[in-house]
Amino acid sequence: MALSVGAGYAYRRRLESEGIITWACQSGNHTRGVGWARTASTRPNVPVIFGVGGLVLLGIAVLNAAQGINPWAIITCALSGVWFLACAACYLHTTRAGKFVVWAEIIQGLQLRGAERVLDLGCGRGAVLLAVAQRLPHGQAIGIDLWKTTDQSGNSMAMTRRNAVREGVATRVTLATAGMRALPFADGAFDVVVSSLAIHNIPGAAERARAVEEAARVLKPGGRLVITDIRAAEQYRDELRQVGMGAVTMRPLGWRFWYGGPWMAAQLVTATKPSSRAHAKGR
Ligand SMILES: C[S@@+](CC[C@H](N)C(=O)[O-])C[C@H]1O[C@@H](n2cnc3c(N)ncnc32)[C@H](O)[C@@H]1O
Repeated sequence: MALSVGAGYAYRRRLESEGIITWACQSGNHTRGVGWARTASTRPNVPVIFGVGGLVLLGIAVLNAAQGINPWAIITCALSGVWFLACAACYLHTTRAGKFVVWAEIIQGLQLRGAERVLDLGCGRGAVLLAVAQRLPHGQAIGIDLWKTTDQSGNSMAMTRRNAVREGVATRVTLATAGMRALPFADGAFDVVVSSLAIHNIPGAAERARAVEEAARVLKPGGRLVITDIRAAEQYRDELRQVGMGAVTMRPLGWRFWYGGPWMAAQLVTATKPSSRAHAKGR
């Protein structure tokens, strides 16, 4: 069944019709395009907990109503149940569709020429990596990860490799097992570095700062960095300014990237590495 049923997905259909999204966000075994069913599923237990909690509360409200118990107890349970179910729906929407749509717009905004070398930090099953690879007919998309299944279900290099083959981009994708805090690449090796929902998984502000510094180090002068993440985005922004990155910006990505609600909203942090000349002038 195609996911494009329902008014909530109208914006995705619009983006598809305008060519902003070039893949079909469908379940099933379609062979073309970045299929969310193969690449999503960040912490699937979260919506299950919200969903079960919501149904239990609604059940209690119905039982209370049937027995004519205190109307305030009925209203409180019913509203809490609806709230929990809304959180579950929001989380599922973000992980199944919203995140992909937002990243499609971000990648479109990068205006890649098609021959770049792009690094994805914490690529997981390839949600962003493979979408980038589709824009690189003559380039390379390199994904590094520690393949933690606690951070993403079904996470493994073999799974991501299989996804790359299915999407027809395997020849443009290179995968490596490496940590973000010590990247096995030379300075200035990449035109673009991207990272989606990965850096916050590193415990400790100092260690996350190391990952951000590494991302800046491996960029070419003029290279661009794009991070979407929850929780620690302000730290990335400040750290990037401190290490001399230019045009550092941060903005919220909106409801399509809420993990359950606005209290767990993803932010977009972008920066450009100054060209050597601009850097020298600024000193
Ligand atoms: C929530 S998943 C996001 C995966 C993918 N970027 C996406 O948006 O679907 C976070 C990923 O970061 C990886 N990760 C966590 N700590 C890491 C580290 N120190 N170095 C490299 N990858 C790491 C995990 O293995 C996992 O694949």
